[in-house]
Amino acid sequence: MSKQLDAARSSKQLQTDMHWKENIVYEIYVRSFNDSNGDGIGDLRGILDKIDYIADLGVTAVWLSPIFDSPNRDYGYDVIDYRKIHPEYGTMEDFDELLQAFHERDIRLIMEIVPNHTSSDHPWFREALKGTDNPYRDYYIWRPGSENGGPPNNWTSFLGDSSWKYHEETGEYYLHTYAWHQPDLNWENPRVREEICGAMDFWLGKGTDGFRVDTANVLSKDMSFPDTDETKRIQGSGEPFYKNGPRIHEYLREMREKVFSRYPIFTMGEASQVELEDVEKYTLPDRRELDLILMIEASKICDESNDMWQSKPWELRHMKDIMRKWLKDLHDEAWIGMYLSNHDHVRMVSYLGDDEEHREQSAKMLSVFLMTLRGTPNLLQGEELGMTNAHFFSTIDDIKEQQALAYYKLMVDERGEDPETILRRVLKKNRDHSRTPMQWTDDAGAGFTTGKPWQRINPNKLEINAAQQENDPDSVLNLYRRMIRLRRDHPVLTLGTYEPILDDHEHIYAYLRENDEESWLVVLNFSRTPTQVELPSDLRDRLSEADCAVCSDESKLQALSQGPADLDAYAYFVFKLN
Ligand code: GLC
Ligand code: CA
Repeated sequence: MSKQLDAARSSKQLQTDMHWKENIVYEIYVRSFNDSNGDGIGDLRGILDKIDYIADLGVTAVWLSPIFDSPNRDYGYDVIDYRKIHPEYGTMEDFDELLQAFHERDIRLIMEIVPNHTSSDHPWFREALKGTDNPYRDYYIWRPGSENGGPPNNWTSFLGDSSWKYHEETGEYYLHTYAWHQPDLNWENPRVREEICGAMDFWLGKGTDGFRVDTANVLSKDMSFPDTDETKRIQGSGEPFYKNGPRIHEYLREMREKVFSRYPIFTMGEASQVELEDVEKYTLPDRRELDLILMIEASKICDESNDMWQSKPWELRHMKDIMRKWLKDLHDEAWIGMYLSNHDHVRMVSYLGDDEEHREQSAKMLSVFLMTLRGTPNLLQGEELGMTNAHFFSTIDDIKEQQALAYYKLMVDERGEDPETILRRVLKKNRDHSRTPMQWTDDAGAGFTTGKPWQRINPNKLEINAAQQENDPDSVLNLYRRMIRLRRDHPVLTLGTYEPILDDHEHIYAYLRENDEESWLVVLNFSRTPTQVELPSDLRDRLSEADCAVCSDESKLQALSQGPADLDAYAYFVFKLN
């Protein structure tokens, strides 16, 4: 371990402001949240119309998916102007009004910044294409082909094609870690760093409260671009050469120094392929890089390592192992953001719960889980209603997101694989599951739009919608509100230690959350069948005088405190121990 990290670890200097830790973040996927003008696309004024709903949830921060101008091939993750709102979403005046409305309700507004790549339609890239001596050429990463023709190396992008695309007129290849129309910026170039820092400064200067930094740990590449050995991997095979790359910490410290440190904000880095030590380096406060890393591992629990579109069944013990690592073994002062679903993923209740017979109950159990884990929780819009995957998608034409479409094309058209098999994989995992419009009501447009929605609305809006849950004290929505309130009232649920118990139980997930003042016990049945559990005797003793804070069945308290107890499918219990 580096000396600097050691020093940071042993530092006694405590942060006085740890507000980034105590946030509860609500992800708004703007396009699908609420449409104010009937064009079928969610927008800023639509968010404004729902501001009281958001405030009533009790969240302390909202993270907006990208709203900058973009050709939308990757829905805003392909930026053409870092300082302009996409006209589909509204105007700068709308944005200012929204920001003020959030602040009036003590809610922080976190923006998305995409620093690794721009759109190929960005004016910088258009300039770069004009010639090898254009001043913008070096904003991107160009290399001649390899000696035997072909691209400079054998890396594949996260869409599965080569990471390099040839540009006929100038005779060189450019690097794209994602799609070919998302060319990677060259972070070695100080002007690029200045541009991105300038853009971030622009939004922070307006009073926004921080950023989710997209793909935060891929900015620095091994500039010798060696071939990768990971030739069996379909997507992102060059990862070993750019994840947590050689200059990444320097770049993040520069961002912090020049921009973040000048504002009372917080930053969340999206980062996969990180181990404990990496997250410690990124987030230990004394190192002055990011405030937290969004922990991606739980949400990838079903992914096969060589091909993210192939699934493996998950087991509770894997989930426990993941959580032990990130909630118990991580250095106390390092920090993660916790989520079980986001806009890149299927819906939480559909992969970790049971979205048919036990939908409501399993959605509730998962909300209790997310809200009692250490870390900063991020919940995805609609999760608070128990929204499910889009099981009605049936053909490739139902899919709008580029990664699924690219995989289908690669496997079927180029590699000649069986279209049915590939379609099945894509229907199961595509990112549109979490991007179908919010289900506000059971109307034709689900209260989301009066026009034709950009993506189909889930027909289960009839049973799952905010209007109906609003009035039902036992709804998923009202449980989520209670859990958020509980977490805010008891910082132990955020900052306290995490101590797993009954680690070998196949279906029951139980843990203690403790600090000097309080001690909480959480017991969850992750199974669709009733399950028997016997708590260790010392806990049973403590339970006999405990309070049921949030329980699916209060009458079980006695049984749990006495001996073996039978818990219903997806039962949940949060006890405050005395
Ligand atoms: C991140 C985003 C994802 C996007 C990708 C490329 O993983 O969350 O939506 O497609 O980066 O920017
Ligand atoms: Ca609209």
